[in-house]
Amino acid sequence: VDRSASSHRLSSHRFVAVAGAVAFVLLSTGGAWATPASADLPQQVTWSEHVAPILFQRCVACHRPNDVAPMSLLTYKEARPWAKSIRQTVTTRQMPPWDADPRYGKFSNDISLTDEQVAVVARWVDQGAPEGDPTKVPAPPPLPEPGTWKMGRQPDYVVELAPVDVPADGPDLFITQVYGMNVPDGKWVQAIELLPGNTSVLHHVVTYLGPFGMDGEQVASEVSDGVERTIFLNDAAKRPAGMAERPSLGGVWVAGSPPSVFPPGTGQPLVSKQLVSLNMHYHPSGAAATDGSKLGFYFGEGELQKVITTAFAADPGMIIPPQAEDHAEHAIYLFAQDSKILSFLPHMHVRGKSMEYTLELPDGRKEVLLSVPEYDYNWQNIYRLEEPVPAPAGSILHVEARWNNSESNIANPDPGREISWGEGTNDEMLVAFFDFIVDEGQKPKAVRGEEYIGTLLARHDPEDAYAIRLEGMAFGGPWGLVVPEQGEGMFYLAFGPLMFSSTVPETFRLEDEVVLNASMVTGGGGTRLPIAFLARYGENGTLTGEAFFNQRLDPKNLDAVRGKGQAFSGTSLAAAKSAQASTPSAGS
Ligand code: HEC
Repeated sequence: VDRSASSHRLSSHRFVAVAGAVAFVLLSTGGAWATPASADLPQQVTWSEHVAPILFQRCVACHRPNDVAPMSLLTYKEARPWAKSIRQTVTTRQMPPWDADPRYGKFSNDISLTDEQVAVVARWVDQGAPEGDPTKVPAPPPLPEPGTWKMGRQPDYVVELAPVDVPADGPDLFITQVYGMNVPDGKWVQAIELLPGNTSVLHHVVTYLGPFGMDGEQVASEVSDGVERTIFLNDAAKRPAGMAERPSLGGVWVAGSPPSVFPPGTGQPLVSKQLVSLNMHYHPSGAAATDGSKLGFYFGEGELQKVITTAFAADPGMIIPPQAEDHAEHAIYLFAQDSKILSFLPHMHVRGKSMEYTLELPDGRKEVLLSVPEYDYNWQNIYRLEEPVPAPAGSILHVEARWNNSESNIANPDPGREISWGEGTNDEMLVAFFDFIVDEGQKPKAVRGEEYIGTLLARHDPEDAYAIRLEGMAFGGPWGLVVPEQGEGMFYLAFGPLMFSSTVPETFRLEDEVVLNASMVTGGGGTRLPIAFLARYGENGTLTGEAFFNQRLDPKNLDAVRGKGQAFSGTSLAAAKSAQASTPSAGS
């Protein structure tokens, strides 16, 4: 199969969903058009004096001719027929698209209406949506010409994306494209802008530096759940061999307007053979259309002083039972060094219901940083904090995500199915992206697996929590096993930046042994791999035994399996602590 993007025209019926989606959030030049200052609403609300200023400030960046929204709201004539629908969408807060609970966090790209603005619009419609004196309409905002770079100059490097044909109707298209770049050494990105080719069909785009958590070849073709994930690689991307290191997730940017511009000296480093991945969402518009978008990179001047790191809390072990109306899963991220959080990008698929980010400081204080109570897959926003939030080393970002996998979720294609991690629309994800910076002169580093496991185990009784290693295995550890005297156990596995965690639903306590039957989800499409442990308590808080993959243990028939598993050994947190206390530290 020729996957070269340049020689390919994408035809739609082959595309299926992949992850990743960010709305075109078009910010208006806030403040320039005054909104009613007084808390008392005007007696007679008119388009010219009261409503147009609000819509100019908050709506027309999208609702103008030839842009992402279906209709223009620039003039009274254009807006009047939509009055009822405008009332309905603003009072329910569907429009403008902004899903954060206003009680938590202040965001610089907040485009939501104030309660007063909503009341003004509602009263206008209730009064028959009158025009008023047309000479009182303020000048419409200066909107950039469609098709020009909003940065006002040509980018330093442009990736021209393969043309995508979108049919007149049918389901939405989700397409991943991966491109190889060829940039001079030592360059870094200070701003990035997506120039949409056809805004009548292009809904939103997420951009990552590097292929999303995989190496180039794996990205090239994948069939999961019997559906083909169509991914296009240009010639350079087919040869990622020149990459200095394993490509990793490098950044997430909102495409559209305005461009993402980082403060001077702050940005993202590039390698010369940089890969860039784009997750694109197309929405058929009623007329067949072709999109040819461009991604523009603006290089920073001088030294890169502060590297923006995109990280995430994820739960690849998630499982959503069939018909579950409100299923919750958790994910965490542990900060290895003093950091400042800049922004959030919650990501789930069509069953996603809500997501909340809470920061737990090393002293135990907790603060909700972002709550998205009604998550909307179609409007995945990036939430940029007005003020960076300090996360000292040892802080934990907790993420709680909820899904509705029942019939009451009209977007749910199949409520009868158990759902696990995967990139298709029929799978789900819990990826809570966020960006952070560390102090000047420091290199951002990820927490090591041992620290992760240690932090998680520290949340349990130290007598019951064991850090273990499996002998002679690539992913032999660190693992965490929690074996309480009563109730459900837990197991944890750190795998790069990902943490697998799972409860142990079956625990059998024998005389001096314990049998634990659990499962973990691996790979796309969510294959569930049974895992069992046969553990023996030793002296001084040690735990030894065997792990069995793809197997469930029958506590009545252990002799049949003894000696056939993967040996492991470990120590309880309590024992490790007292051993540390009695060993004099080196050099003292
Ligand atoms: C970020 C871009 C964006 C902004 C800002 C925005 N809209 Fe929308 N709007 C859309 C898109 C796109 C749709 C089409 C439906 C969808 O994709 O959700 C839409 C749909 C609508 C609809 C429903 C149209 C229909 O077909 O029934 C109304 C009404 C509406 N918007 C009003 C507003 C108002 C009023 C504001 C400002 C207060 C606003 N929008 C701000 C992008 C936007």
